[in-house]
Amino acid sequence: MAKKDLLSVYDLRAEEISVLLEEAFKFKSDKKYLDVFKGRTLGMIFENPSTRTRVSFSTAMIQLGGLPISLDPENLQRKRGESIHDTAVVLSGYLDGLVIRALRHCDTEEFAKFSTIPVVNALSDREHPCQSLADIMTIMEFYKAKTVENLKEIKIVYIGDGNNVANSLLAVSAVLGLNFTLISPQQYLPKKDILDKALECALSSGAKIKITSNTSEIKDADVVYTDVWFSMGIYESKKEDRKRIFMPYQVNEALLKKTSSRCIVLHCLPAVRGNEITAEIMDKYGYSIFTQAENRLYSQKAVLLRLL
Ligand code: CP
Ligand code: NVA
Repeated sequence: MAKKDLLSVYDLRAEEISVLLEEAFKFKSDKKYLDVFKGRTLGMIFENPSTRTRVSFSTAMIQLGGLPISLDPENLQRKRGESIHDTAVVLSGYLDGLVIRALRHCDTEEFAKFSTIPVVNALSDREHPCQSLADIMTIMEFYKAKTVENLKEIKIVYIGDGNNVANSLLAVSAVLGLNFTLISPQQYLPKKDILDKALECALSSGAKIKITSNTSEIKDADVVYTDVWFSMGIYESKKEDRKRIFMPYQVNEALLKKTSSRCIVLHCLPAVRGNEITAEIMDKYGYSIFTQAENRLYSQKAVLLRLL
């Protein structure tokens, strides 16, 4: 059977996402500790910092009977110029899967191209597919939706920077046919090719996708999602200018007054209290935000089970 990678949400069909989510809920409710990966290894390369992705993948692998191996980029021969091609071929001879958080999405793609083992994107400058699976799982959990079908009436709003996390949330909404609004300042909307792909996918899935810079579109939202204004790798000289542009998009008490009374708040974390979300809202909605973080473990177990 050909190996399968998870580099982008678009690597999964709607039915596959549904099956993964079903499996993730089983892991959550049964707290199943299987032995399926006995003797198998998962390599993990993180070129950028990570708390949730790194620890949840490691824990998932151990709880499924396998062994995660952390491959510090500082100590790989890649650091001295060994090619991705050669590294990928060699690692494929030892490992059963590779999780990679590369600085550049194209490097993740190159690893996948030359690996004969499944490669999982653990966040790149373009997408965060593992995050978006846990996001949908969390929304299903709070809205007691048994299937993705039951989510179609839920209005999901992402507000803030049109970054990697926003791209994947947009993609998963488009694939699953959900009601999704993305609100970002004009110059920070996702790139045109990303928007075009989502809108094209929505045509066949029936997703209701709205892309806007108007914060009043948050009206009646059932889910409000935000992420940092400064993603890893963004070193803007005019930091204060960026903050000033984003401030009207901050998730705070006043903004949330316009949402539905049952609205939950999500954040992929790490958060910067006082920037994209106030400390008050972080504390008030900790129940949904930290559940979302925990759900990374279960959804990634499902991903590993499917791919390895
Ligand atoms: N949300 C997320 O991916 O967190 P980490 O950067 O800590 O892995
Ligand atoms: N957008 C953030 C997500 C971190 C999980 C970043 O890229 O830094």
